[in-house]
Amino acid sequence: MAAVLDTVRAFFAPTTTYTIDTETPADVVARENLLDRVMGPKRRKKSSEKIRRGRLPAEGLALVARDETGHVIGTVRLWNVEAGISQQGNPIEALLLGPLAVDCTQEGRGIGGALMRAAIAEAAKRGHGAILLVGDAAYYERFGFVAEKTRHLVMPDPFARDRFLALELKPGWLDGAAGMIVASGRKLA
Ligand SMILES: CC(C)(COP(=O)(O)OP(=O)(O)OC[C@H]1O[C@@H](n2cnc3c(N)ncnc32)[C@H](O)[C@@H]1OP(=O)(O)O)[C@@H](O)C(=O)NCCC(=O)NCCS
Repeated sequence: MAAVLDTVRAFFAPTTTYTIDTETPADVVARENLLDRVMGPKRRKKSSEKIRRGRLPAEGLALVARDETGHVIGTVRLWNVEAGISQQGNPIEALLLGPLAVDCTQEGRGIGGALMRAAIAEAAKRGHGAILLVGDAAYYERFGFVAEKTRHLVMPDPFARDRFLALELKPGWLDGAAGMIVASGRKLA
């Protein structure tokens, strides 16, 4: 009986392999369709979306996961922001991450985690100091995101404070950071 069950499980288990890649202009339609399927039409009303609107993602920080045929099955992008000001009154440069999404048929295979780790590594390599996001702490804490680092920061619209998280890529980068998150990235032409 156990052998039969194993055969049934193996038959239904997803076998697609995936790769993490930099997004290209040819991926935009597939990415938007994926986000509509996974997150629904309300995604455009999110507070983070206002910060992203009319801007380009941070250089080198729009990533996709592809299946073995090259189709987009996951996406993550990061955006340049100012994370309030320091105690000396200087704007603090940081990144805002999101949205992160994985095709519903591919969930639980480590694709979200692989996108997160690739994005964090690339952001660190490019010299960024911190990444912020609004999302489920139960998911993002495994990558080191905590709410404690954002306690004096606010998003432009109402948000749940326990979902407003940050990861410092340079220790102490957000020390004393206070104020509003403001878009600072390149504008769309
Ligand atoms: C969240 C999401 C990106 C995870 O992608 P994924 O490829 O399934 O993630 P991984 O395979 O790397 O990780 C799966 C693990 O995360 C857990 N997980 C997924 N979403 C979670 C959540 N919101 N809260 C807590 N844990 C979560 C799963 O239970 C699983 O746990 P396990 O490893 O103990 O079995 C994907 O489910 C998704 O696109 N969801 C809809 C959009 C969304 O919610 N985006 C994030 C905003 S918070």
